[in-house]
Formats: sequence, C-alpha cells, structure tokens
Amino acid sequence: MVEYAGKMADNSTRLDEILRRATAEPRALSHDDLKLLVSLTDEGEVKAMRDAAYELKVRHCGKVVSMRGIIEMGNVCSKDCHYCGIRKSNPCIERYSLSVDDVVRLAKIDIAERYASLVLQSGEIESEAHTSFIEECLRRIQSLPGGPLGITLSLGEQEESVYARWKAAGASRYLLRIETSNPKLYAKLHPADHSWARRDECLDALRRCGYQVGTGVMSALPGQTTDDLASDIEYFARKDVDMIGMGPFIPHHDTPLADSADTGTPKDADRRRRLRLGLNMISATRLHLHDVNIAATTALQALADDGREQGVLAGANVMMPNITDTAYRRKYQLYDGKPCLDENSLACRFCLERRLAAIGEKINYSKRGDSAHFFSRTGRPE
Ligand code: 5AD
Ligand code: FES
Repeated sequence: MVEYAGKMADNSTRLDEILRRATAEPRALSHDDLKLLVSLTDEGEVKAMRDAAYELKVRHCGKVVSMRGIIEMGNVCSKDCHYCGIRKSNPCIERYSLSVDDVVRLAKIDIAERYASLVLQSGEIESEAHTSFIEECLRRIQSLPGGPLGITLSLGEQEESVYARWKAAGASRYLLRIETSNPKLYAKLHPADHSWARRDECLDALRRCGYQVGTGVMSALPGQTTDDLASDIEYFARKDVDMIGMGPFIPHHDTPLADSADTGTPKDADRRRRLRLGLNMISATRLHLHDVNIAATTALQALADDGREQGVLAGANVMMPNITDTAYRRKYQLYDGKPCLDENSLACRFCLERRLAAIGEKINYSKRGDSAHFFSRTGRPE
C-alpha cells in the first residue's frame, strides 16, 4: 500500500512537471509524456491536465467557441471503411444527394445564425460532375449577402487539381482525417484498396494549395494502443496542421465493426472509457500544439449529453452544429447514437447558447474563427 501511494505521488510529480513544461512553450512534450497524458484515468490527474489545457485554450482563443454549421450534402460514398455507417456496402440506408439550391438555402441559414463559417461534408466521390457541383455551391454561397464565409470542405481524397479548383471557387479550409497515424492499424480498419499513403499525400497537396489544413483521428479504435495515440499527436505536429477534429470511435450496428465494443465491459463503463480517451486526446493535443483550432466533435455528444462542453473544458475551441434539414439527418449516421436528429438549426443555436453560458463561454458570433496557427505559420494577418 505504501509502495502504491509512493507510485501515485511519483506520477503526480511527473504530471505537474509535464504540465508546467507544456504550458511554457509549444511542442515541448516527448512521446512518453504524450503517452502518460492520454492514458490518465485518475480523476484528480485528469482534472489537472484538462485545467492546464483549458487555460491554454483561453490564452490562445479567448472564452469563446467558434461555430461552423455543418451541411451533410449527401451520403453517397465510394469508400467502404469498416467503421462507417455510410460505407458503400451498407444496403440499409437510403442514399440522398442535396441539390445546389438546397445547399445554398442551408448556407443562408448559417448566415442568419451568424456563424460566419460552415462545413460542407459528404461521402467521398471523385468525378468531374461532383467537382463542378461543389464549385457551383461554393461560388453561389460566397456571393450571398452576408458573406463571404469561412468555408471548410470535408470531401475526402481528391486529386490536387480538384483541391485547387475548390480553393479558387471560395473554400479556405479542408478537413481530411488520417483516422490513425499507424498505417498497419489503418490497413486493418479499411479494405485493401484504401491507401494510408494516399491520404497522407492528400494532406500535403492541400497544404500546397494554400488551405488551412485540418486532420484528425478516432480514439478507442479496436486494436489501438496508447503508443498509437501519442504517435497521432506527433503526426499532427509533424504535418504542422492548423485544425484538428477528432473523436472517439463509436460502433455502428450495420458495419463490420458493430461488435467491437469491449466484450465483458458494462456498456456504461465502455462509453465512459471512450469519452475519457476522446477528451484526453483533446487536452494532450492542446498542450502540445497550443494555437491550433480543435473541434469538440459530435461523437463526444453521442457519449454524454454534455460531451461537447466537456470537450471545450478539455481544450477545444470549435463546434460544428448540424444545419442539415432534419429530414436527412437519420440518413447520415456514421455511428450509432448521433444526437440532434430532430432539433432544427435555431433550436440547436439556443441550446448551444445555454450550454456554453453554463460553462462561462460564449458563441463567437460573426467571426470566422480562423486558425491562429495558420496565420503564424504563413505570416498573413488575421
Ligand atoms: N465512430 C466515430 N467516428 C466515425 N467516423 C466515421 N465512422 C465513425 C464511427 N463509427 C468519423 C471518421 C470520419 C469522420 C467524418 O467521421 O473519422 O473521418
Ligand atoms: Fe442540437 Fe442542443 S445542440 S439540440
């Protein structure tokens, strides 16, 4: 017992030292430091880490959360990722694709809500028809009164020329999750023709095109280790990305990974573990990278009603409220338990105002909330 207490004390001293070093300057953490942070489970230690990460969030982003209304443009997808509910070989969902008019109408809602930024996301499609469809959406949105908006695309792997065309048409940010920085784990979670190397190269292409580049991973993946998670954060640092969107993996019932929840672990304990890992990843990333934009993603909210607020208190500064018509939301379920299926955009905004007020934060209305890191690395003024 004495020895055990001694070990705990050692760990806490080491944690205090890590947190002091991390808050003093960016990129100060070693692989082992990151591993220790992501694997914390002791309530007091977890709180100390989150508080230090939140302090950095407030230092770099203020006590505000930037919003990007997300438009789920369609669930047609050419990919077959083993974890994803809209994978092409899931026959149980009705496929839909919004029209340009639909997308523009939803963008007007984003402007009316004064979010100033939006995300266009859909399944992955590589075709000339899709490329020019997105171009038309971008041109029409960016000429709306109240614009131009900060537009993030989340449309998967594409040729560099396609990324360049979308940039020219008005997009300024692109989100492409690497899903895991471990190519071997990636191979287990995807069919053989899905290439980790291509995804990695796409991130370089996006950077060459001048985007604010975002990536991210899932935590709590089957077969993932704390070494993998520490390496994920080192990957973000190596790629020098501007934005990070990550969340815990949540099994979807119509996918090959449906049964990958911990067998033998009670459901509640399993959810708590996924949530804790997701939040630990946010804190460790904020502590290592300081000025990047980090999203409190919807997957956190699927695990706890206040999961996104917990994400902000762990160091995130961005939220992505869904502004897709409620009629389509059930058809775009990447994982089970997706929240806000029936609340329209206004209801979600009021809800978010209330939730943020409860933690002493506010919506960053009418501000695009560009990544501070992008401006420090490119030298361009905000
Ligand atoms: N659980 C959590 N996140 C998921 N995503 C896809 N499927 C799941 C799931 N089952 C994430 C992936 C993808 C993003 C759009 O959604 O990381 O990049
Ligand atoms: Fe949608 Fe709360 S954010 S209901």
